[in-house]
Amino acid sequence: MDIVVGVSGGIAAYKSVQLVRLLIKAGHDVTVVLTEDALRFVGAPTWEAISRNPVTTSVHDDVARVRHVALGQGADLVVVAPATANTIARMAAGIADNLLGTTLLATTAPVLIAPAMHAEMWAHPATRANIRTLVERGVQLIGPDDGELAGGDSGPGRMSEPESIAQAALRLLAPQDLTGMRVAVSAGGTREPIDPVRYLGNRSSGRQGVAIARAAADRGAEVELVAAGVARDVLEAARHPRIGIRPVATAAELAAAMKDAASAADVVVMAAAVADYRPAQESPHKLTKEDGILERIELVENEDVLAALAAARAAGRAPQGQILVGFAAETLADPAARRDRARRKRERKGADLLAVNLADAEHGFERAENAVEIIGPEGSVVATAAGTKGEVATALWDAVAAVRG
Ligand code: CTP
Repeated sequence: MDIVVGVSGGIAAYKSVQLVRLLIKAGHDVTVVLTEDALRFVGAPTWEAISRNPVTTSVHDDVARVRHVALGQGADLVVVAPATANTIARMAAGIADNLLGTTLLATTAPVLIAPAMHAEMWAHPATRANIRTLVERGVQLIGPDDGELAGGDSGPGRMSEPESIAQAALRLLAPQDLTGMRVAVSAGGTREPIDPVRYLGNRSSGRQGVAIARAAADRGAEVELVAAGVARDVLEAARHPRIGIRPVATAAELAAAMKDAASAADVVVMAAAVADYRPAQESPHKLTKEDGILERIELVENEDVLAALAAARAAGRAPQGQILVGFAAETLADPAARRDRARRKRERKGADLLAVNLADAEHGFERAENAVEIIGPEGSVVATAAGTKGEVATALWDAVAAVRG
């Protein structure tokens, strides 16, 4: 896709070089549009080398191709990073006396801005009013972050990191093919209390489930995310107007929340690691060695939520055509054996799709990267995906979309 990256004159311009690299790496064609001031921070040769496209600041270059409007008309997305207080004010007023201004007025594509300025300028009522105006017009905002600013000050005003801006930009380019779809996703790992200070748990961080919820919302779905023991920083990625978050702790709480969410969901994804057993009793006080029961905690079996959801669907207590997706983290290193186990698990639980991944030191839990095979009808491998958990989430939704037809 065609992305215009507008760079205005702030010290954070150097970070936008990395942003341009990331967008190109993701397979997009990037044209950089600079303000005159931006050139004082990073010169044109750097931008041309990185973007592999000519850069200019002037509306008078390449007049034959009406470049001052053509760039905006042809863009699938415009990102302004850094967006200085001055550029934000000019955008709010619709001023178009440079190429960035004309490009922004000529585009109907989504616009994302990454503000960067001193904390005082960010807090000023003029900037606040300008930001409100832009947001009302549908401009998307990322940051600014709180942190160290030029000159040694600190506070809100620091431009978001290039990785975050690139992620936000790529999300805006996502197809809206799941619009109108209702989705329930479980993420994380349940915690089964032993006493007030101990629990039986597992190593699932919830990152994969959160990425699945996020990818669905980015593609237009309405999402209920049931989050079992998911850390606050991991949940940050689920902050989206179309994602409702229900925090839970135990398998029983997760079961209740998922049954409720699934009763109105077109697609259910059980990405959470649910404890198969829980302590038969939760002690109201901290158990000590003197109690003599810590070495032999009695366990009782938890309900299999996925199987229960499949049974509810079979009994007609789910929307017509509901799709159930399970996950299985396996430690069997042999791919064929792993696949066979996944096939049996899919059958046993009554899921339509089962994503199976290898959980070892390099893959799966607590890692940013993941690799899965998705087992579908008749045990066939309908998709394979490896990469970031976001990339795996995209592959999963592609597979779901294919099953829904
Ligand atoms: N699952 C569930 N309820 C449980 C246990 C698991 O809904 N009590 C779901 C998980 O969310 C996942 C799928 O079932 O989508 C497979 O989980 P896994 O732990 O691999 O399944 P188990 O039935 O526990 O199989 P195993 O005997 O291999 O542990």
